Amino acid sequence: MTTETQYEGVFGAEAGSDPYESYERMRREAPVSRLGDTFWAVAKYEDVDMILRDWETFSSIVGAKAISGEEPATGMIFNDPPIHTRLRGLIRRAFTPRVVESQRPGIQAYCEELVEKMLAKEDPDLVASLAYPLPVMVIANMLGVADGDMATFKRWSDVIIQNIGPALLNGDDSGVAGTRVEFDAYFSKRLEKLRNEPDESLLSALVHIETDEGKLTQDELLMFCVLLLVAGNETTTGLIINSMRAFSEFPDALQQVKEDLDLIPAAVEEALRYYAPFQATIRRATKDLELRGQKIAKDDRILVLLASANRDEDVFENPKEFRLDRGSNKHLAFGFGIHSCVGAPLARLEGGIALNMLLPKIRSVAILDDNAGEMLLPGGPSSLRVHFELE
Ligand code: HEM
Repeated sequence: MTTETQYEGVFGAEAGSDPYESYERMRREAPVSRLGDTFWAVAKYEDVDMILRDWETFSSIVGAKAISGEEPATGMIFNDPPIHTRLRGLIRRAFTPRVVESQRPGIQAYCEELVEKMLAKEDPDLVASLAYPLPVMVIANMLGVADGDMATFKRWSDVIIQNIGPALLNGDDSGVAGTRVEFDAYFSKRLEKLRNEPDESLLSALVHIETDEGKLTQDELLMFCVLLLVAGNETTTGLIINSMRAFSEFPDALQQVKEDLDLIPAAVEEALRYYAPFQATIRRATKDLELRGQKIAKDDRILVLLASANRDEDVFENPKEFRLDRGSNKHLAFGFGIHSCVGAPLARLEGGIALNMLLPKIRSVAILDDNAGEMLLPGGPSSLRVHFELE
């Protein structure tokens, strides 16, 4: 079995089945389980949390080429300190709470337009009508490329995310090479322009930010473009899809939120817990170690099941219920530790605005295309027909 198939197998995508059944079985019977000769999956909250905290033992340098020494680890998400620290410091300087909050009016206006058009259609495609265009437009706007072609961004984004398994884990980037050429050419031109003519965009801030170690290199800037356009997009699309899915399964929760819109932030957090948009991340053991009696060897890679941790019966009371009264909801949907999601405030803002616009206008929602496996794969389904009963 290839690494990619193992990865999809855990997500239940092969059979289109619900991966949460596999996660539950793993938590009960094999919380640390072998997926292949050098690949493991970890399902309990306590272990997931511990792994995310301990970056020295559980490295984010997981790429085949970086492990074999063929290429240095580049970028931020699949890297460790000190390189990660420098890049994270830079992005946090550009991606400030003020910058995120300043997006609110634009997101509201765009979301209102999308929701209105979507609700005018019978059984609309939730992905095409709202879940995809909203996040891509928001990030394109922040990056200063809102005049670009959103359909092209979507195509690039899909190809990159669908090939992340083979490209990263097996070092096979044949599926993504052509797209990266197009992507890099487009953004290189933009970066060049911003060097001479700075503007108010996040990308311009990244081009001009300087630290003791100098500015970001061209490769680092292109990496940020990929990270922000792809990681930020596909996951926020997932949040919008998953919150509608949760409300279709828990109509009482929908009524509760409709009666008290102040519950929206709790609903967003519970949607993130219940159906984590980014089901798992990956780490590499930097030494031989033992976890729950299993011997993990140095350089073995570990699928860290965030989605399973979020349903752990030892941490969440009645984890299979979608509840708005969880108080402090310690879900791990945004990860934890040094790599915890930089875009979380933006994703929360977008998810909250989408629910605020949509919920007062609908009585119920039903998912018409039910493919639980595909819905939770990185990037989510390419389309999803839903039926809204309107107020
Ligand atoms: C609901 C939406 C989102 C979810 C569920 C999500 C989830 C995650 C998770 C789990 C990680 C940690 C990965 C790891 O530890 O290996 C992460 C990292 C990251 N996310 Fe998000 N994300 C979302 C939205 C966004 C958005 C909107 C942006 C930016 C526009 C973004 C940018 C990033 C970046 C830059 C990192 C890397 C952080 C680092 O390596 O230090 N994310 N995200």
